[in-house]
Amino acid sequence: MFSFLHTFTTRLACLFVACFAAASVFAQGTANRISIQTSSPQTTISKHIYGHFAEHLGRCIYGGFYVGESNTKVPHVKGIRKDVIEALKQLNIPNLRWPGGCFADTYHWKDGVGAKDKRPKIVNVWWGGVTEDNSFGTHDFLDMCELLGTEPYLAANVGSGTVQELTEWLQYVNFGGVSPMSAWRKENGRENPWKVSYWGVGNEAWGCGGNMKPEHYANIYRQYATFMTDWSNSNKLFRIASGANGADYNWTEVLMRDIPHHMLGGLALHHYSVIEWNSKGPATGFSEEQYFKTMKQAWRMEELVQRHSTIMDKYDPAKRVALVVDEWGGWYDVEPGTNPGFLYQQNTMRDAMIAGMTLNIFNNHADRVRMANLAQTINVLQAVILTDEEKMILTPTYHVMEMYKVHQDAKLLPLALQTKDYAFGNDKLPAVSASASVDAQGRTHISLVNIDAKNAQEVSVDLFGGTTYKTVSGRVLTAKTLTDHNTFDKPENIKPVAFNAAKLKGGALNVTVPPFSVVVLELK
Ligand code: AHR
Repeated sequence: MFSFLHTFTTRLACLFVACFAAASVFAQGTANRISIQTSSPQTTISKHIYGHFAEHLGRCIYGGFYVGESNTKVPHVKGIRKDVIEALKQLNIPNLRWPGGCFADTYHWKDGVGAKDKRPKIVNVWWGGVTEDNSFGTHDFLDMCELLGTEPYLAANVGSGTVQELTEWLQYVNFGGVSPMSAWRKENGRENPWKVSYWGVGNEAWGCGGNMKPEHYANIYRQYATFMTDWSNSNKLFRIASGANGADYNWTEVLMRDIPHHMLGGLALHHYSVIEWNSKGPATGFSEEQYFKTMKQAWRMEELVQRHSTIMDKYDPAKRVALVVDEWGGWYDVEPGTNPGFLYQQNTMRDAMIAGMTLNIFNNHADRVRMANLAQTINVLQAVILTDEEKMILTPTYHVMEMYKVHQDAKLLPLALQTKDYAFGNDKLPAVSASASVDAQGRTHISLVNIDAKNAQEVSVDLFGGTTYKTVSGRVLTAKTLTDHNTFDKPENIKPVAFNAAKLKGGALNVTVPPFSVVVLELK
């Protein structure tokens, strides 16, 4: 079923004898058992794995983040919603990718600076053909990142832009000295540069970013990357190449082979948990069969990360180049009656399962996956926030992100996991997923996901390494049914509550994880 599981079974001999690799060791079996190595953790789980993504798409920017300076209905700071700022700050969001997505390769940044009433109105060709008035531009985004306390990740236009346009954008936002672009920035009200480190060089170059072949894009990347910085990259730009579409392993092979690694901070990867592109199914009111298929797509991330990492290891055994999963999440049919180009979908416990499982995968591969971006932050795809005029709700995915923030910049505790199956029809999936870390204060956190739609999972956790734990506490996110979600009328239908089904005895921990739930435990 999963090729990664075949690899894992060959490593079963190591299971439960504290033989831990950097990544986790999975196997499907008749019991749920997790062995965690608690001593000498090596790998840091980069906080940037918990990044977000904001595209000029539907109501993500307009109505989501930004309501305009003259809005009198929604409380805002310079047009940015106050409720959204507060909610996102609670997540400690580490970075925010903007302005796309596909939109990025049509975006000309100069359209979005200067007096707002003079900015050109353009057509958003990819997303609904609506008018983009450019009222939210570079200053708005970068100032908003400061309000959020997050690092901006700018996606540059390669598909329909020029090298000069990108170098000028860099000068505009990053250069403190004398130049036409820094002078223009000051004229537009910003004295000091923002110093943006993260730069995407195009987006989905194999598709909406130019339909390029990998060899062609590798050359284009080299050209753009050359003019983005100086000989020694003294301003420490982190340049990210547009990466593979799912299982396009040849893309990764060619880019790792053809791009000099000193020019490459990260290589992207996009994977959406979509059942079928022509028949995605509803975001709510789905069947168990549809749920199972979504879970299968979500689990696929494990195989993708493993196989892209293996190729990267061949060219970069020291793991200098990061795998940046800068688009991931569930993708369903839009809510009935909404613009098909706006990708607005509700968010249920199914999405909480995708989030919990995917973040466990990223944590366990933190040696290579050092950045990721959930698609997208507000009102688009697997959003953490939904808005309706002045109303705002937090989705189940928001709560998973909030529960998992304890892993940000913590040290990964490698684990070996044997899990029972979640069976549906003739198919089966691993029911349990897990990751663990220890934070700077010495607290251990274990995140557990049970995707089984019907059965609770009894999980026994062995903690090796000599650490003595005295207490365990935790929170759980679950609901009555899988399709449950928060609404503007019932915004707190789903939220984390205290979890009492974890028992610590000696060095062993026993946990009963309810069906379709996410549990995060803290051990001290
Ligand atoms: O997130 C929506 C779209 O999905 C992005 O614009 C694009 O990069 C991807 O295909």
